[in-house]
Amino acid sequence: MRKEMVPEIRQARQKLKGLFGDRSPTVGLILGSGLGRFADSLADKVVVPYGDIPGFPTSSVAGHAGQLVLGRVGETWVLVMQGRVHYYEGYDMSQVVLPTRVLVASGCSILVITNAAGGVHPDLAAGDLVLLYDHINLMGTNPLMGPNDESLGARFPDMSNAYDRELRELARDVARHNGVDLRSGVYAAMSGPSYETPAEIRMLRAMGADLVGMSTVPEVIAANHMGARVVGISCVTNLAAGISPAPLSHEEVAETASRVEKKFVGLIGALAQRLGEVARS
Ligand code: HPA
Repeated sequence: MRKEMVPEIRQARQKLKGLFGDRSPTVGLILGSGLGRFADSLADKVVVPYGDIPGFPTSSVAGHAGQLVLGRVGETWVLVMQGRVHYYEGYDMSQVVLPTRVLVASGCSILVITNAAGGVHPDLAAGDLVLLYDHINLMGTNPLMGPNDESLGARFPDMSNAYDRELRELARDVARHNGVDLRSGVYAAMSGPSYETPAEIRMLRAMGADLVGMSTVPEVIAANHMGARVVGISCVTNLAAGISPAPLSHEEVAETASRVEKKFVGLIGALAQRLGEVARS
C-alpha cells in the first residue's frame, strides 16, 4: 500500500517555507541527466540538498546533483530540481514523484520537465532538443496507483493535454527567438535500468514513439494530477539501440548532454522568464 502522501508534502513544504521566506516560486524545473547547470545561472540562489528535506529521496546516479535550488531569472522565482530519482533506483512511485508534488504545492503552477533521451525517430540526432507533445507510459506502473487523495486531484485525471498546448506554442516561440532548432516528439518511458534492445526500439517506433527514456512520465502524471501545466523537453543524447551501431553507455549520454548544455541553458532561461509571466498573469 502506498504511503499517505499529504503529510509528507506538508512537511517538506514547511521546511522549504522556512528557508525561502516570502520568495515564492511560480515555475518549477526538473533538470535531467547532465542538464543541471541551468541552476548555476540563477540569481539570489538558495540551495537545499535533498537530504535536508524531510521525505525526499536522494539519487545515486552519476550526473544527478540532488539538490533543490530556489533562484531568480529576471522577475521570475523558479524552484529547480537539480537531479531527480528514478523508479529503477528502487524507490516506489510515490517517492519518485514526491519532489514534483512539493514543487507544485510550493506554488509552481507550471513545470518544465526535462530529460536525456534516446532518439527513436530516424530523423533525430544526438544533441537535438525536442519539445514533447505526448508520452507513452510503458513503465508498468503509474504514480497514482493506490488510494486517491482528493485534496491533490481527481481519481481519473484527464491526460489529453498533458503537455500543455498553449505552453508548447510559447516554447516554440521562445526557441525561435533564441535561434534554437526545437524538434517535437512523443516520449516513451521504460523502467530501465538496462537500455532497450533493438527489438524493443522497433516496437516503440511502431507504437509511435520518437524518444525513449527512463524518467519524466511519472512526474508529468503527478503534475497533471495536481492541476499544474507541463512543458516537457528532451535532449537527445544518443541514437536508440539498433539505430546506432555503437553500444549505448551512460558516458555517451553525459558527454552529449554537456555538449548541448549551453544551448539548453539559454533556452530554459528564456523559457522560464516567459512562463513566469504566464504564471503570474
Ligand atoms: N534509452 C533509455 N533511456 C535513455 C537513453 C536511451 O537510449 N538515452 C538516455 N536515456
